[in-house]
Amino acid sequence: MEAPPFEVALLPTTELVAFWRRLGTYPNLPDKGSFGEQPESIEIVPFSAKYREGIASVILPIQQSELNIPISLEAQPDLMDIPRYYQRDNGNFWVALDKERVVGTVALQDIGQQQGALRKMFVTRAYRGLELGVSGGLLKTLVAWCRERGMRWIFLGTSSKYPAVSRFYEKNGFKEIGRQELPPSFPAMGLDDKFYAMKL
Ligand SMILES: CC(C)(COP(=O)(O)OP(=O)(O)OC[C@H]1O[C@@H](n2cnc3c(N)ncnc32)[C@H](O)[C@@H]1OP(=O)(O)O)[C@@H](O)C(=O)NCCC(=O)NCCS
Repeated sequence: MEAPPFEVALLPTTELVAFWRRLGTYPNLPDKGSFGEQPESIEIVPFSAKYREGIASVILPIQQSELNIPISLEAQPDLMDIPRYYQRDNGNFWVALDKERVVGTVALQDIGQQQGALRKMFVTRAYRGLELGVSGGLLKTLVAWCRERGMRWIFLGTSSKYPAVSRFYEKNGFKEIGRQELPPSFPAMGLDDKFYAMKL
């Protein structure tokens, strides 16, 4: 069978609509609410085993194709055993779902002393942007959870190679800090060269 002319032709309707809206190709698209299958259907729920494959299908293509990190699922022990790595003490792992399909993830690792490390913030490209609110919703869920549990700080690391990621955290209340200001228990990753903290 001949390949379709555009990659977007393979996307389901909800993704196509989000993609067009972001491109500005069809500025007169109705508001989100006018689409039966649009973002009202986005739900944020804690990890359970049935989302394991969906999580991998969001994170791996972003790591491998977008961030150019040649990493496999097996090389990420935290993703192989999410309950053990994240769903302990005050930690957790959430997925954003569009009709049960995983479109985003975020993890909180309890690093002791009422502090958490934010990790695995990934949103499928077609679901990014303020308008859809997926990334903001994941972050709000994580921050609300931390506050409810009396946590005092959230820390995270990222790379200066990804300016959109830094922008996202800065506009959502994180302040850049030096590596030396991280708590010793913070799990810094190899590529991280920018660090952020939020005081709760
Ligand atoms: C990080 C991520 C979850 C943020 O989600 P998002 O829906 O894109 O977030 P937002 O659209 O609210 O914010 C992104 C901001 O970066 C801006 N931006 C996009 N590309 C940019 C660039 N090249 N340089 C600077 N800013 C950029 C956007 O305009 C937006 O800012 P604005 O709201 O002021 O316009 C998402 O981009 C993602 O999944 N990225 C890939 C995975 C990743 O790198 N995760 C972090 C690993 S450390």
